[in-house]
Amino acid sequence: MSLVLGIESTCDETAASVVQDGTRVLSNVIASQVQLHQVYKGVVPEIASRAHIENILPVLDSALSQAGTTLDQIDAVAVAQRPGLIGSLLIGVTAAKTLAWSLQKPLIGVDHVQAHLYSVRLSAHDRSPREQCPLPAIGLVCSGGHTALYHVRDWTDIVRIGQTIDDAVGEAYDKVAAILNLPYPGGPVIDRLAEQGNPEAIQFPRSYLERTSLDFSFSGLKTSVLYHVRGHPGREKPSNSLTHQQVCDVCASFQQACVDVLMNKIRRALERYPSRSVVIGGGVSANRGLRAQTQSLPVPVYFPEWVYCTDNAAMIAGLGQILMDRGFISDLSMDAMTSGSIPAMTD
Ligand code: KG4
Ligand code: ZN
Repeated sequence: MSLVLGIESTCDETAASVVQDGTRVLSNVIASQVQLHQVYKGVVPEIASRAHIENILPVLDSALSQAGTTLDQIDAVAVAQRPGLIGSLLIGVTAAKTLAWSLQKPLIGVDHVQAHLYSVRLSAHDRSPREQCPLPAIGLVCSGGHTALYHVRDWTDIVRIGQTIDDAVGEAYDKVAAILNLPYPGGPVIDRLAEQGNPEAIQFPRSYLERTSLDFSFSGLKTSVLYHVRGHPGREKPSNSLTHQQVCDVCASFQQACVDVLMNKIRRALERYPSRSVVIGGGVSANRGLRAQTQSLPVPVYFPEWVYCTDNAAMIAGLGQILMDRGFISDLSMDAMTSGSIPAMTD
């Protein structure tokens, strides 16, 4: 039996988790900062790093006690080391280095985006293990900070095959929510209101880019929602002019446009790369509209359990175990990195 302590602090969640043998989650503690950032309708980096400093030790204590473990029973310390906000990352990375050094245990730097893909393998220790998804797979990470496609040949052999050229899809959800005066984060609330709306009420634009492109673009869609709700520049509509039903229709039509684009790109990727399944992770993978429509894809699709869709440390500890098993151990000179390191496909 092997126990890995995972730490996640890339953005606005301070999280720690103990995972056994790479997939069985013994504890998954998350201190969310949503309330601190809600008033600004987005994450404020300086506020985030201060909150991480306050949260990190209590979160680590809870993760260990909920797992019924002590520090000396831990076999390794894994930490999300990239990509993210530098002030936020540094808190988790410093805590992990300190623990690994003082306990004389291996330190494992984990890529947060890669871990979102791996999250499809996790389940709580008191639930049955998840079915293994067959690899190679097409991976989609869709979150507030990332929207990209990957060819997952193995959990430690992942190449990027497409990415957004402007906004991430979760970011578009958050911005559309702000346009509609809905709370932050926008994804869950738009997902809920979309269920009461008509997805064909408004024909928002879908950006597919060139015919073979696997890249994404969501900024035109977001602007189109802005003009629909507030009016075009010089012809602004009065604020709060939409009825509840109209708001639901905007949510449903916007969501349908996002899902159409994501589905189109997954299908294109499946045509190009040998794949036995599709794995989808990141905050937007919680979206019910997306989950329902992926059922029509020609290969099995794997989503994380709901709790592992958004940022968490269980995915860091789980992938940390796989990396350790394959000898990817970091040393104490490891740095936090703001940008990702999954290489792009060169073909
Ligand atoms: O993975 P995550 O926790 O953080 C990043 O790495 O960015 O993702 C957060 C994002 C937010 O933009 C949030 O609005 C979105 O995920 N989100 C959703 C849903 N739940 C969260 N988007 C669409 N539908 C949802 N149900
Ligand atoms: Zn994330």
